[in-house]
Amino acid sequence: MEQTEKKIVKKKKKTRKLKLVAKISLVVILILLIAWAGVGIYMIQHKGNTVKLQEKGFAKEEIQDIQHTLREESIETLLTYDYHKTIVNIIKEKDFQETLLNRYLDFLSHYETASAHDIVFLVNHDQDKIAYTPDIHDILNHKNFQEKNLDRYLSYYQKYELDGDKVIVAVNSDLDKEDIVLDDTTSLFLGRTYTVKANLNRYQKYYQSHKNLDIDEIITRVNSNLDKEFYTNTQKADLSKGNLIIVNKFYYLSSSYVPSDLVTISSSYGRGQVKEEAYNAFIKMYNAAAKEGLYLYISSPYRSYSRQKSLYNNYVSKDGKAEADTYSARPGFSEHQTGLAMDLGTKSNHSIDDFEKSKEFVWTKEHAYEYGFILRYPKGKEYITGYIYEPWHYRYVGTEVAKYIYEHDITYEEYYEYFVK
Ligand code: DAL
Ligand code: ZN
Repeated sequence: MEQTEKKIVKKKKKTRKLKLVAKISLVVILILLIAWAGVGIYMIQHKGNTVKLQEKGFAKEEIQDIQHTLREESIETLLTYDYHKTIVNIIKEKDFQETLLNRYLDFLSHYETASAHDIVFLVNHDQDKIAYTPDIHDILNHKNFQEKNLDRYLSYYQKYELDGDKVIVAVNSDLDKEDIVLDDTTSLFLGRTYTVKANLNRYQKYYQSHKNLDIDEIITRVNSNLDKEFYTNTQKADLSKGNLIIVNKFYYLSSSYVPSDLVTISSSYGRGQVKEEAYNAFIKMYNAAAKEGLYLYISSPYRSYSRQKSLYNNYVSKDGKAEADTYSARPGFSEHQTGLAMDLGTKSNHSIDDFEKSKEFVWTKEHAYEYGFILRYPKGKEYITGYIYEPWHYRYVGTEVAKYIYEHDITYEEYYEYFVK
């Protein structure tokens, strides 16, 4: 009896085990079936896409590239467009973004000659509304192309319709910021030592009537305002420039202008008044020259507006206006009114007319810059400064500027336009 019961229990256990195995097997089979169905469906679909891509005209390797790169829905999208060999190149571009596929393909369908690189680049930068041309291709592939300037290149191109190379040069030189068209003449003036971009149009214009001149000479002249007549287009001198103010036949001081810190010159150094900083610099220069046994003297320092007026009027009545204008400034237009200019003589001979013959002159010519002074109206530069050579007239600009002007042999007119204005 006991044995029979044991058998029955054993049998029951066995049956339960079998049922469990059957259940597990069923689940496994079901999973396999589902997976198999999935793979099957995928295969059918994939095969479907393969066939469709083939029908579109894609070659075997192209299809492999497409299926390797794109998700199913992207392939569906792609299939709505006509075959084009560039499509595969677009997909292979390193900055390709699958989410932008539609826009790439739209662009390509409008501009069939566009390269994959250009399409991806323009769409990625939201510039796919542009009317694409070979010039735009040249811009995007130019060796001096800078990505940060893309929008500027395209708007400059749209505005002036220049060829790609010119657009690159113009924008890289910031001409678009000044609204300057780059033509063959303008390019002559780019990259020169003293090119001022805001003056490009004026260089160009001056060049038209002075084609025999050197390009750098044209730049010098226009920077010095010589494309205008002296005493025309005049404007107020910019007082905010301090010691670097310019006063000449284009920049004037008002009749009421008096420098703020005039000091009286000690009788051992000269007469009258000059600005304090210029005075201190002069004393240093004086002492250095004195060590060599040379003694400078300030014969003509600061001059007020009214003083200049009477001087100039006297010269006009003596020599006539045209002649007077070559050596005397009209009231308001004299650098002496700034308090930064001084006419030099020597202690033993105050006459400025004799200064050039003195040893002091020879010394000053070579050393004045070390103390911040420049020879303001040099020989050979009369056409720039508007005045005859004045070996006695020195102007304080500070040591750094004076050194540059001395070493580069330029006038203050040239220096001011390029470095100060
Ligand atoms: N002699 C100089 C130019 C002046 O009159 O200011
Ligand atoms: Zn002078």
